[in-house]
Amino acid sequence: MDRIRIVGGRPLNGTIPISGAKNATLPLMIASLLTDQTLILDNVPRLADVVQLQRILGNHGVDVMLSGKRAGEDEYKGQSVHLSAAKIVDTTAPYELVSKMRASFWVIAPLVARMGEARVSMPGGCAIGTRPVDLLIMALERLGALIEIDGGYVVARAPKGLKGGEISFPKVTVSGTHTAVMAAVLASGTTVIDNAAREPEIADVAECLNKMGAHVSGAGTSRIVIEGVPKLGGARHSVVPDRIETGTYAMAVAMTGGEVMLEGARPELLQAALGVLQQADVDVSSTNQGIRVARNGAGIRPVDVATAPFPGFPTDLQAQLMALMTRASGTSRITETIFENRFMHVQELARMGARIQLDGETATIEGVERLKGAPVMATDLRASVSLVIAALAAEGETMVNRVYHLDRGFERLEDKLSRCGAEIERVSS
Ligand code: UD1
Repeated sequence: MDRIRIVGGRPLNGTIPISGAKNATLPLMIASLLTDQTLILDNVPRLADVVQLQRILGNHGVDVMLSGKRAGEDEYKGQSVHLSAAKIVDTTAPYELVSKMRASFWVIAPLVARMGEARVSMPGGCAIGTRPVDLLIMALERLGALIEIDGGYVVARAPKGLKGGEISFPKVTVSGTHTAVMAAVLASGTTVIDNAAREPEIADVAECLNKMGAHVSGAGTSRIVIEGVPKLGGARHSVVPDRIETGTYAMAVAMTGGEVMLEGARPELLQAALGVLQQADVDVSSTNQGIRVARNGAGIRPVDVATAPFPGFPTDLQAQLMALMTRASGTSRITETIFENRFMHVQELARMGARIQLDGETATIEGVERLKGAPVMATDLRASVSLVIAALAAEGETMVNRVYHLDRGFERLEDKLSRCGAEIERVSS
């Protein structure tokens, strides 16, 4: 299993190109199940989760073709993926495939919408809480699907097609909103989704669905209205830049000092996180090229932050912010309100000398003068990258184990960081 070795203490300087968003790519790929025409996605990141989803879609009969880098092309350009679900050969998504990645459960919506039936294993994914699917099931039921749980599988049936309906989520849910939208686009009549998630990835998927002929309005707000259509066609769509990758590298620069241009990043996708960095005394400015982040000399000011659904501070940047605050000059507080078990990085950061106290959903972080490198590991994607951030500023060597978590969500992390001066390498074993 690969590991990443980091020797800390070097500032980051240069340019980091931002990849397409993992959390938009996955539902966009899944949306290909809604049509028998070809969906072409550009700016798709090279990630283990994308490969895994290719397998899952392949099992349903989707033809997936990747066009790689051509001579003379910038090697950081994302890939183009052609997805063609001309014929769906299987409406079952088996446990072996779904258990590896939670988002693959979302195939349930297009399958039942187009084929009238779906049998999808209950999901797995990052171990960051219980992460139920009750609200996804509720949304499908509101659109007329009959749901049964059978041997660890959710079986959804709508032999005469789905019908538009009103869905009001008691809690903001990204997965629930994606499911509801993807099911409603082929339902007969109008669907109204209230208390919808407002994450930019929802709006990106809706934009793509509209290019395919859907009638979705209000995506990106908390009320989405969908006029169902009988059929969708093909389209070409470029994936929105990854705001979590952007925020992660912004925090890495804040941690090490230096100056980096996050190329292609869009500030409106992460205002809350950029605001927190500014409170911490980090220089953040936007240009046509992207977002410039710098910290030259100044210390890191402590902050008090609670995660919240978009446009609030994202839970997917909570661990990275905590790594940064381990070096603040004073005491910070970070409250996690989305996932109950998302503090697994705390123990590992402590192994590097961080002082963090947990009390329920709030972590109190007392900034320390220095961190020291150590062997560490983490059990989820964002937690792993927080250890990388800490390691970049720690004295000596850190070995990050279980790199496969990083490969699920960060494209060529060690390459992007080493080009900016970090001492970081992948060690194969
Ligand atoms: C998505 C993101 C993930 C991010 C999260 C919150 C993808 C692929 N993943 O995950 O990176 O951390 O949004 O921004 O886009 N819940 C229920 N019942 C349900 C569904 C969810 O109670 O049926 C709860 C969850 O346990 C959690 C909260 O709702 O406490 C939010 O979950 P949700 O927004 O659905 O997260 P995901 O879509 O799984």
